[in-house]
Amino acid sequence: ALTAAKAQFISTMSVGEDNVSSVKRRLAQLFETSLRETVPGEPDVVPIVDSCSDRSGGKFGDYQCNNAMVLWSKIKGKQTGYKGPPAVGKAIMTNLPPSEMIESCSVAGPGFVNVVLSKNWIAQILLRMLIDGIDTWAPLLPVKTAVVDFSSPNIAKEMHVGHLRSTIIGDTLARMLEFSHVKVLRRNHVGDWGTQFGMLIEFLFEKFPNPEEVNEAAIGDLQAFYKASKLRFDSDPEFKQRAQQAVVRLQGGEDRYRKAWKKICEISRTEFHRVYERLGVSLEEKGESFYNPYIPGVLDELDNKGLIKESEGARVIFVDGVNIPLIVVKSDGGYNYASTDLAALWYRLNEEKAEWIIYVTDVGQQQHFDMFFKAAKRAGWLPADDSLYPKATHVGFGLVLGEDGKRFRTRNTEVVRLVDLLDEAKSRSKTAVLERDAAKDWPEEEVEKTAEAVGYGAVKYADLKNNRLSNYTFNFDQMLNDKGNTAVYLLYAHARICSIIRKSGKDIEELKKNGKIVLDHDGERALGLHLVQFSEIVEEASINLLPSTLCDYLYNLSDIFTKKFYSNCQVIGSPEETSRLLLCEATAIVMRKCFYLLGIEPVYKI
Ligand code: ARG
Repeated sequence: ALTAAKAQFISTMSVGEDNVSSVKRRLAQLFETSLRETVPGEPDVVPIVDSCSDRSGGKFGDYQCNNAMVLWSKIKGKQTGYKGPPAVGKAIMTNLPPSEMIESCSVAGPGFVNVVLSKNWIAQILLRMLIDGIDTWAPLLPVKTAVVDFSSPNIAKEMHVGHLRSTIIGDTLARMLEFSHVKVLRRNHVGDWGTQFGMLIEFLFEKFPNPEEVNEAAIGDLQAFYKASKLRFDSDPEFKQRAQQAVVRLQGGEDRYRKAWKKICEISRTEFHRVYERLGVSLEEKGESFYNPYIPGVLDELDNKGLIKESEGARVIFVDGVNIPLIVVKSDGGYNYASTDLAALWYRLNEEKAEWIIYVTDVGQQQHFDMFFKAAKRAGWLPADDSLYPKATHVGFGLVLGEDGKRFRTRNTEVVRLVDLLDEAKSRSKTAVLERDAAKDWPEEEVEKTAEAVGYGAVKYADLKNNRLSNYTFNFDQMLNDKGNTAVYLLYAHARICSIIRKSGKDIEELKKNGKIVLDHDGERALGLHLVQFSEIVEEASINLLPSTLCDYLYNLSDIFTKKFYSNCQVIGSPEETSRLLLCEATAIVMRKCFYLLGIEPVYKI
């Protein structure tokens, strides 16, 4: 079945015909021409082209066009002259316009058209990338501006591993879209506007009647502060009442309360920033409070459209398929998470002109997103058809589990502090780096840099390589293993390729200018083919919002390089040295781009 993502992929096929970098898209263009010729009466048929590497292991070809069967069921009764799917397939093949891309074609089974790419063409494409740069391989996406709403921790509450997942996944999605020339608004939708502030502020006033005097050192650990105030809130009814009044006074804009609120937010922010800095993630904070002034107007608009109903004292929106309504004004008259999200969506669509709004949170929030997206569709803000833009997408992810299979916690069942976690990743990887002979005489700075690159890279990759919807187990030993599908293995594989190039003593820039790539050996061809598929993989990963697709590609690249190419094709000192060094360089460049997109710093030495 054609998924929405696929349909979208195909329907945007005709953007920028000439400089299309995806092999799949180029072939699809050729097949589109052929289909128009083959069945002139069916001008809406879109070409379905897929890479064969996963299905038939590339035995019959590199790509396949799968239109014949579906097309046959459409034209069966009509006077087209074809006598069944194989005949349709044959015609599709014959009508393909001549192209330097294609070496040969064949029709298999019930009409699959198999394409073998020309190895000279692949070689040409590779050389051109080496000269013009990998950015010429950026995919084309059907959007200009996107919002990626990610990380988004809550002020004063814990920033937990779930927020770490959101930060890592969101950053990668943003990087992939940015690489594809989409303008990305990286939004940190921090929870800076909730009833918890009444309690925090009152507690703060007890300790510091003058909020000016408060600083991070005075409060100490903000999470501990939150806990202590919560304890007080739950046990002292008089305090509870004061806290509830404090919310009203804060939201009414009373100066002393605003100041205290600001202070608490600032302290929280410094804490978050430490994590972002370590991870190399940039984000622009537009917290919940930012959208607060927009809520009344937005709710008026929804009310005027007849969407808002009264229910048990609250104001709600009913949506199809869910039996509870979306509450937009609580019975006490206050706004909530949903009212803020509606206002934020309105702002992103109308003020920021975003065409794709992506929310990265755990799957537990799926119903919230489902309901408010449906409300936005009812309001006519978003088209009902999910394959059209503007579009809002919830990117859900599973839990991070500990060794015991339960939610990841520290030994004393506390939430894991992210800074501690990153510290441990770094110190473990530092130990491993120092154990390697080669690193014995590295300067301290180099050891530190490598330990960080490998340690943080390992944490990120262990997260990103899984299908994001599934839970995964957090295990330092596993993620820092230098064998298997880990960042460590991949970073070392990259460093090894760089060292091959260094050892050759050749100037790669010179080779690029005067050299030639030849893909006569099966290993060379397999590597070359995988390399030129980079663009379509990034496109697929972006359209489906699945970083794991890119991780699989990277892991396979390293595998193909080692097992198919390097173990069969001598590089240094062989007659094919120049061509093979260029292949090594192209591999290193593509690997580095993958690392970059995954937010991982490369290492060049081991
Ligand atoms: N602060 C929320 C949380 O920690 C995540 C916010 C996600 N973004 C949004 N627009 N709702 O669960």
